[in-house]
Amino acid sequence: MSRKTKLILPGLDRQRLPRHVAIIMDGNGRWAKRRGRPRVAGHREGMNSVRSVIRTCGELGIPHLTLYAFSTENWRRPVREIRFLMNLLIEFLNRELDELHCQGVRIRMLGGRERIPARVLASIDQAITQTRRNRGLQLNLAFNYGGRRELLDAVGAYVNLRPRPALTEEVFSRLLYTAELPDPDLLVRTSGEYRLSNFLLWQLAYAEIVVSPVLWPDFRERELGQVLREYQKRERRFGGVKSVHA
Ligand code: IPE
Ligand code: IPE
Ligand code: MG
Repeated sequence: MSRKTKLILPGLDRQRLPRHVAIIMDGNGRWAKRRGRPRVAGHREGMNSVRSVIRTCGELGIPHLTLYAFSTENWRRPVREIRFLMNLLIEFLNRELDELHCQGVRIRMLGGRERIPARVLASIDQAITQTRRNRGLQLNLAFNYGGRRELLDAVGAYVNLRPRPALTEEVFSRLLYTAELPDPDLLVRTSGEYRLSNFLLWQLAYAEIVVSPVLWPDFRERELGQVLREYQKRERRFGGVKSVHA
């Protein structure tokens, strides 16, 4: 375990860590603006936060991590910023894939394939294939992801099922992009914004929500430790009345 991860252990109960953490990585543009730099400088620095959060979750033994990297609404951004984000994903995978693979990380993609340039898809597919047998941290990159779109895709898949089973929550869950994954226990959004922005609309039904004021490029081990401690203070009731801890 790295020194930085050890530093966040005090005050954390390792038996009660969330099984699945989902993060809306927000505030890259504001981080850059505060420094008088172009928005894309924030995206680049945010990549270092991605690396450190992945490593820390892996070292803590959190089994599932989902990162919101590009939404279906982000296509509304200027073409140059979109292109930068696409290239950044390729760069990230080029630089980190072997290391992630060594750490036992399995990469999945949540989102649609349409509109994503072929070279980006090739890079994603390579990452998925190379890591598909890994049993360490299950890392899901929500890329070209939209919650409403996912729900519509699931409805489309359901009506095409032959034979078509009775429609239960379980049957429906298995038609989502997250088919094999447990629902997130903890949703983190950085940069002090209180919105879902079309993220995991079905899966977040009972997630604990923690908003961090810190901008994503500044969100590192220490900030992750803070949100995990905040999560452990919460009492999860799932609609009941007694204290239920997962
Ligand atoms: C989050 O940072 C990264 C993506 C959505 C890709 P933003 O780019 O949204 O940064 P702000 O919200 O404008 O500060
Ligand atoms: C949400 O952030 C999407 C990602 C983090 C990828 P946005 O910055 O795009 O969300 P809004 O526009 O503030 O709701
Ligand atoms: Mg934003």
